[in-house]
Amino acid sequence: MNLETVVLAYSGGLDTSVAIKWIKEKYNLDVIALTIDLGSERDLPSIRQRALDVGAVDAKIVDGRDLFLKYFAFPALQSGAIYEREYPLATAIGRPLIAKLLVDVAHETGAKAVAHGCTGKGNDQVRLDVSVGALDPNLKIIAPVREWKMSRPEEIEYARKNNIPIPATVDSPYSTDVNLWGRSIEAGILEDPWVEPPAEVWLWTKDPKDAPNTPQYIEIEFEKGIPVALDGEALDGVTLVQKLNDIAGEHGVGRIDHVENRLVGIKSREIYEAPASVVLHQAHAALEDMTLSRDQARFKTTVSNQIAEMIYNGLWFSALHQDLRAFVESSQRHVSGTVRVKLFKGASMIAGRKSPRSLYQYELATYDKGDTFDQDAAMGFIKLWGLPLQTQANIQMLGEGVTAPMLPEAESSSC
Ligand code: ARG
Repeated sequence: MNLETVVLAYSGGLDTSVAIKWIKEKYNLDVIALTIDLGSERDLPSIRQRALDVGAVDAKIVDGRDLFLKYFAFPALQSGAIYEREYPLATAIGRPLIAKLLVDVAHETGAKAVAHGCTGKGNDQVRLDVSVGALDPNLKIIAPVREWKMSRPEEIEYARKNNIPIPATVDSPYSTDVNLWGRSIEAGILEDPWVEPPAEVWLWTKDPKDAPNTPQYIEIEFEKGIPVALDGEALDGVTLVQKLNDIAGEHGVGRIDHVENRLVGIKSREIYEAPASVVLHQAHAALEDMTLSRDQARFKTTVSNQIAEMIYNGLWFSALHQDLRAFVESSQRHVSGTVRVKLFKGASMIAGRKSPRSLYQYELATYDKGDTFDQDAAMGFIKLWGLPLQTQANIQMLGEGVTAPMLPEAESSSC
């Protein structure tokens, strides 16, 4: 298009609608609205129309669901990326893709700037800004909500004056973000970490007390760490994740209540609903237990934590992530097989797992007939394994004994 254009990530909500007008006023730039569907189940044609009504010169819709799973969510699953033991990173994983699509459309249209509706307090601004900068350092980034310093009532007043339709959701006390990998809900009463989330925050998961009284067993098949079939039926990623969200959500699985550490230095209380990603992570980990060596598994835990932190902190497109991904991809080459999961009243439990590449060997593990494990070899092994301790005990500890706090005081000299 021209130098006077900006591509805005447009959600259809109040903030980004007001932003269309505000950008024109403040920067005298025309806005191309870009609405990206990552599986949030919104009425996209009417969102597109709203952007045009508010004054966007063009409004595009991109179905990013396939890309999202293939290049972001499933790789994150292979990585075992869970932030602070709880959060499967749905929102965080969506941001680099949104940045990528903003940059793509800017290049297609010749726009020299991109814009988003993030506030100045969260992680999302960091993820978008850093990702855009990594993909095209020359693009200018405008973040109206961070810049305009309007309070919510002032913003609504601005919308009224400018004939910007006020969405019905404006009264919701919650801030939400939704994609196939999960829902994030924050603000309102949730800001009191002592208060149990009210029933209304949950849209994808049944209250476990209302979930079916009989457990449901499902089978998830993985190929190289990617889920490819559900209950024996080969499915594309989007269908598989949607189905799993429905099934696990019906059983009340996937509710997360987390006080997390934001990159910008504050703790915040976040509620997540992530039925599919919770079950997939659990099943994937169970399959890795079968197919990775002890050393691979131990090392991968470190890599998983590092990747999770980088994803959370907006460093998806960093060189280190790329390097660690090479390790993860290599680690997944035998992570194929099927995991059986039992869903019941808010819980998901691994019920079984099998893999043609399994390192679990019945003949070695069994205590029954057919045991091939050489128990005689254990003695020699233990002798060498314990040798350094024995040496040290002889030279340094004899007489002194093992001292507290390793042993209770009274018994400390007896070995
Ligand atoms: N705290 C989560 C994160 O940083 C969720 C953010 C939700 N974003 C939102 N716009 N409501 O990934």
